[in-house]
Amino acid sequence: MRIGFFDSGIGGISILNEVMKYFPREDFLYYADTLNVPYGTKTKEEVNQHVKAAVENILKEDVKALIIACNTATSISINELRSAYDIPIIGMEPAAKPAIKLSNLMQKKVLVFATDLTLKEVKYRDLIAKIDKHSIVDSLPLPELVEFCEELNFNWNTLNTYFKTKLQDFDLSTYCTVVLGCTHFPYYKPILKELLPSHIQLVDGSKGTIKRLSILLKDNNLLNENGTNDILFKCSDQSNAYIEKMKDALSALENELNKPKRKHLK
Ligand code: DGL
Repeated sequence: MRIGFFDSGIGGISILNEVMKYFPREDFLYYADTLNVPYGTKTKEEVNQHVKAAVENILKEDVKALIIACNTATSISINELRSAYDIPIIGMEPAAKPAIKLSNLMQKKVLVFATDLTLKEVKYRDLIAKIDKHSIVDSLPLPELVEFCEELNFNWNTLNTYFKTKLQDFDLSTYCTVVLGCTHFPYYKPILKELLPSHIQLVDGSKGTIKRLSILLKDNNLLNENGTNDILFKCSDQSNAYIEKMKDALSALENELNKPKRKHLK
């Protein structure tokens, strides 16, 4: 049986890429909702509908656990999904907790990048209200970055201009962590590392997901000894071109092909 991964598009492949390294004897199914990507600029009701339909499709396959590798889908639908299905379901949310810990230590602030919908939703607001005791968390929606990612756009000039514009009102010397709260964003880690001041650390949700998955597989006796890291790629519009794109995206992540060599943002 496979471990299922779900995202609106290629974002969740950034999590799959990390998970595969820790579970070499597991096989995977990756499903992208190509008919409806992006989610982050849609209404809550629309996203909930799309997520439920996508999960129904995924569970027609032989899947033993499901990772909702999408912060936006998690924030809208995770509770409903967990009560509707018996298999273990892991959601993702912006990794603000470890970022706050680190930033408190350094007496600096946290900047969370995510989609509009994730940042607007009650799940995120509740999380921040609970853990941000000293009000050090700021957030910034980056919807265009999801689109760049879907186009596999890693063009240095485009991204440099984009990030400069988006970050112009932030004094980056006052932050020490940037949370990548959307699974499309880790593709831009190499670029962000070059662009942001070197003291800023990038934090994403992959470590927490790996930990949670490991516990759930062990507790439910679901660990596989015979898999080969085989991946079955599927998408809602059944486009072969998109399946090739997903494979290219995974290779790009594995090889860090998008790594530029340039200077920091001033
Ligand atoms: N990758 C998704 C996330 O983590 C969704 C991006 C989108 O479809 O807007 O939020």
